[in-house]
Amino acid sequence: MSIQVMSTDDRLGMQLDDDALSQEYFTNAVYRHWDPGAIEGLDTDHDRLVEWNPEEPAFEALRRTVARFGAGEESVTEDLMPLAQVTEDINDQMFLSSQIYEEAKHTKFFDRYWREVIDPAAEELGFERTAPTAEQYFNAQYNELFERTEAAMSRLLTEDTPRNRVEAYCHYHLAIESVLAQTGYYGIQSSFSDSGSDEVTDEQFAELPGLVNGITKIRSDEGRHVGFGMSKVREYVQEGTVDEAIVQDTLQELLPFVAGTVTDLGENMNPDPLVEYASDKLSRRIEIIADADADVPPVDELVDIDGAVAASD
Ligand SMILES: [Fe+2]
Ligand SMILES: [Fe+2]
Repeated sequence: MSIQVMSTDDRLGMQLDDDALSQEYFTNAVYRHWDPGAIEGLDTDHDRLVEWNPEEPAFEALRRTVARFGAGEESVTEDLMPLAQVTEDINDQMFLSSQIYEEAKHTKFFDRYWREVIDPAAEELGFERTAPTAEQYFNAQYNELFERTEAAMSRLLTEDTPRNRVEAYCHYHLAIESVLAQTGYYGIQSSFSDSGSDEVTDEQFAELPGLVNGITKIRSDEGRHVGFGMSKVREYVQEGTVDEAIVQDTLQELLPFVAGTVTDLGENMNPDPLVEYASDKLSRRIEIIADADADVPPVDELVDIDGAVAASD
């Protein structure tokens, strides 16, 4: 552990740096704490699903979406630890602790959703109950993306180099948390609320305020996580420690897996606007990282859900 000595006399010996971005993010995370068990509207979602009375393929599309998000949150909860372990700066460690805690809360929300909404609704609609971990909900691209990310994260434990750190951030914070999660949440919003894009589906899905309430909280947390990852990658690139091409190549290599994950969600879903959204988001990330004059938006903007959309568009 390295102890940082502040240069100003009145802060001499203080270990935490209030001016560090990660300390600011940590403070913001604590301030915006929320409880996945207290998200409201899940009973409404259950009633609306039963009322909607969908055919099985449409219900499967919802289950596939929720299963992928739940499993995704579980994977990122498990895979962040190596980065926290190799991080020496206390401010960064504090932020990463809050991030692991938040990923665990996201996992908990999706688990709760399956138990309280999906399973009881399935039963009432006369469909078989399924497990959120059932193989039918995942495809090869999804599995490959998460396996590669796990490998990129655990590589830090044996070979902690600047390049490997950048690759870890590119897999975890940029490809998964930024591009995949934001695209998926955008897809959910478009399908299960009256906001988002009208081009994603013609199908009349039920409006699900409980799902959208949970996802709104999650997206806000993700704004902070992505901001942290982007700032770190940006630092390496702007200092010249790691070449920008590594970022470009890693993200471009992962884009087909991200696209493959959002293109087979349901029969009546149009993947084109989602793939376009993902690819725009990826280009915007690279721009902020590579451009010396660009800035990662301030934390209040990253966690504000409208701002988060605007900041990352
Ligand atoms: Fe998450
Ligand atoms: Fe996250």
